[in-house]
Amino acid sequence: MREHHTMLWFTFIVFFVLNVSTCDSEKHESHEKTKYHKASRWSHYNELIQSAVSAYQDCKSDYCSCYDRVLERDLRVWEERKGITEKNLRAAIPYGIHYQIINHKLYRQYDCMFSSRCNGVEHFLLELVDSLPDMELVINVNDWPQVNRHRDPLPVLSFSKIGYQHWDIMYPAWTFWEGGPAVWPIYPTGLGRWDLQREIISQAAEQWPWEKKEDKAFFRGSRTSAERDPLIRLSREDGDLVDAQYTKNQAWKSDADTLYMPPAKEIKLEDHCKYRYLFNFRGVAASFRFKHLFLCGSTVFHVGSEWLEFFYPRLKPWVHYVPVKQDLSDVRDLLQFAKSNPDVMQSIAERGRKFIVDHLRMEDVSCYWRKLLQSYAKLQLFTPKRNMSYKEIKPKS
Ligand SMILES: *[C@@H]1O[C@H](CO)[C@@H](O)[C@H](O)[C@H]1NC(C)=O
Repeated sequence: MREHHTMLWFTFIVFFVLNVSTCDSEKHESHEKTKYHKASRWSHYNELIQSAVSAYQDCKSDYCSCYDRVLERDLRVWEERKGITEKNLRAAIPYGIHYQIINHKLYRQYDCMFSSRCNGVEHFLLELVDSLPDMELVINVNDWPQVNRHRDPLPVLSFSKIGYQHWDIMYPAWTFWEGGPAVWPIYPTGLGRWDLQREIISQAAEQWPWEKKEDKAFFRGSRTSAERDPLIRLSREDGDLVDAQYTKNQAWKSDADTLYMPPAKEIKLEDHCKYRYLFNFRGVAASFRFKHLFLCGSTVFHVGSEWLEFFYPRLKPWVHYVPVKQDLSDVRDLLQFAKSNPDVMQSIAERGRKFIVDHLRMEDVSCYWRKLLQSYAKLQLFTPKRNMSYKEIKPKS
């Protein structure tokens, strides 16, 4: 028994001595190993980023040419049909608000259910009316697009759609000017005036440079759909990774509507700049806040890829934002990747911010409206005649 014991000690000491002599090189090796391990754990994402960035070409900021392809794609069906007939236009009227531009004046059917949305649209139409030919337009001011691709196309303009699912022609949303969702108490009259929001959020971004931002993800929004639940649950499980909470919406009745927790306070968009990673979910259709989030200089995590506004197709996954699967199954992994690769995240944030600053100015929005209406007018195969029961829309003094 004792002999056995001595033997064990002996072996141990020999082992120990041998070990000490190799210790330095082993330490070094194991350090290399963790480094290698870390790099290989994320190599999948890093490769995606590298190839997206090298394939990406920035667009020229003059005459809103970044979005030419979007307009072409939206109008292609009418090019193929050799134009929009009067019959096509009349058939579209029930799906939106009917406008007429005649002799450089703007007319509208009497009622618009959402007056501030119509104001937001009319602001841009009135800016252009002096230079536009006569035309008739059907502009949908509901959130939801109107013309499914299962049916024949109708010339309806909508702010958002699923590219492969709807014929709707995208126009820049009313919220660039007016009529965004009212969020009490922070945006009592709705989120509008994109030009002003650009300034407000950019100023906040200066106070929160990347090094000062909290290294976590942030989300506040109402429970428009259960699609957002997994992020809220992850936040409750791992508060270091993400702070995501539901706020009230008009339909809120009890804590059940905020996933069995009291509703959180609404947070202004500029106050999101404090965090490094910001989540964008779709609302009923595309979410208006997508563009705002970029201005913080934080990395935008964009959930799902189906819902579009006119400028979305130009924003590229991994170049300008981090794409997240619609079911959020990859969200934890992506956030861990983010926290282990802050420099990579900062570059995405910076590219995203720069794109919106350079290519989504108010003048680009007006420019897109102009191109859209000019191209649309060329497709019109009939001469508009004024409907005398319509009212003239005049600029607000
Ligand atoms: C003019 O508008 C009214 C009300 O929307 C409609 O009932 C009528 O048919 C229109 N007239 C023509 C000539 O299209």
